[in-house]
Amino acid sequence: MTTTASPAPATAQPEAGAPEWWRDAVVYQVYPRSFADADGDGMGDLPGVTSRLPYLRELGVDALWLSPFYTSPQHDAGYDVADYTDVDPRFGSRSDADELIARAHEQGLKVIVDIVPNHSSSEHELFQAALAAGPGSPERDMYIFRDGRGEHGELPPNNWTSIFHGAAWTRITEADGTPGQWYLHIFDTTQPDWNWENPAVHALFRDVLRFWLDRGADGFRVDVAHGMVKPEGLPDATVNAHGLIDIPEGEVPIYFDNDGVLDIYREWRPILDAYEGDRMMVLEAWIPEHRLPLYIGREEAHQSFNFGFLQARWGVETMRAAIEKPLELADAVDAPTTWVLSNHDVIRHATRYGFAPDYAFGEGLGRDEHPEAELGLQRARAASLLMLSLPGAAYLYQGEELGLPEVADIPDELREDPAHHRGGVPGRDGCRVPIPWQQDAPAYGFSPSGESWLPQPEAFGPLAVDAQDGVPGSTLEMYRRALYLRRELGLGRHDAAVEFLDGLPEGVLGVRRGKVVVLVNTTEQSLPLPTAGGLADAEVLIASGAQEAGAIAPDATLWLRTA
Ligand code: NOJ
Repeated sequence: MTTTASPAPATAQPEAGAPEWWRDAVVYQVYPRSFADADGDGMGDLPGVTSRLPYLRELGVDALWLSPFYTSPQHDAGYDVADYTDVDPRFGSRSDADELIARAHEQGLKVIVDIVPNHSSSEHELFQAALAAGPGSPERDMYIFRDGRGEHGELPPNNWTSIFHGAAWTRITEADGTPGQWYLHIFDTTQPDWNWENPAVHALFRDVLRFWLDRGADGFRVDVAHGMVKPEGLPDATVNAHGLIDIPEGEVPIYFDNDGVLDIYREWRPILDAYEGDRMMVLEAWIPEHRLPLYIGREEAHQSFNFGFLQARWGVETMRAAIEKPLELADAVDAPTTWVLSNHDVIRHATRYGFAPDYAFGEGLGRDEHPEAELGLQRARAASLLMLSLPGAAYLYQGEELGLPEVADIPDELREDPAHHRGGVPGRDGCRVPIPWQQDAPAYGFSPSGESWLPQPEAFGPLAVDAQDGVPGSTLEMYRRALYLRRELGLGRHDAAVEFLDGLPEGVLGVRRGKVVVLVNTTEQSLPLPTAGGLADAEVLIASGAQEAGAIAPDATLWLRTA
């Protein structure tokens, strides 16, 4: 066995205009409020993102996906959109968005924007118009208004509960001051659901797509992509002993994953296809795995997040299943699968893996939960290296390349997640803490004023970009090298099949991709490197853990090149 010493060149960008670039792209999720703050108000912004594009280029990603930066009262961190075609002043202006897209393109980076079609903000002018117009009006028909049940309409139209806890209906006061109709909101009260039975809603979103396509967006990440079409007649759901909608294992609430939603993608696909440059959409659809092929393909969406991989627990069987099944399903419809381990809605994977594999996670990380930080990071690095060796598109969440942990000790009064306020759970703020760029600067270089909308923990200092830059073995350098090698070796492409290796020591997952063999040691002991199958003379391309001659370090991944 030999070890490669050559450093990764600084950049590894896609060829300009590479066709169907999204099939094997590495996409970096930017959460604008927490990435980089140019104006010093403590909230990240678009000029901040633009200023950091060279960092993304050097990291070696192909595209960035921007979480919403549109006009919004920010009751759900921008996933409550009041104007889909304007930029919230907190984040900048339309010309800042244009500038960002143009600079990204100059540097060979594609730009994916978020589109939120299930609901708007209650401050959207069309919702305000719906409130002002009476029951039965065309304005009300843009949203899902219904009369209440009970003698005086005092009960909600059905028993649906919100994803953010509490009822999914809110009763309004009519213009004349009387208690009135109810409107549906699968999320917060401030996020009324659009009525996708209404052709005017379809027209509105076709325009929104074209607006951003005309401005140069290379694609869309579709929020709650399985949610827009509700079951006919809005029937009651079965509820469990806690009065919550019953969701049997492996299924979804009654208001998600209804077949009508597929027609929306069939309507949108030709719009995207009519533009040059392989514009794409990726769906945020938390659906049962077997439903995936319905959503993606040549006439529907290009790809959908494969959340099964994110949910798979540490272990050979769990991870293997989470790789094999989605590949098989996506291959059946000639679509690429995707891989993702972290995003702005889940506990960061450097923390998740610090818990025992059977640990039951809640919504966010509670202060009384104590993962093993070192173990978590070790396994997170190993899982990331495994992910980056697989064919398809890989989605990274800002800060995972630094090994950032979830932050547990945010004071409740600073938490902004509506799920925290409505449900009393810790919520998702812990994965949204602003990024540390410089170890010794105020706000760790996130903001020139030292302000930060959420406090950053001391543990972020040693993980700052400048503390890891050029440091062999740092998580940042591991990601840079892995992204470089992934491109050089064509690992994202589907033409080299994924072959699982048998006969490995217990606790080792092995995957062959052409000449590259990926070994994951899921045990807490060093294990001898297998020698069969040409591995004895293999060259170590990259390792997530300490490199030990003739061995794989505990909880670590190795990429080997065989002759
Ligand atoms: C999914 C988004 O990722 C999440 O942040 C948001 O709260 C919900 N959709 C509602 O838009």
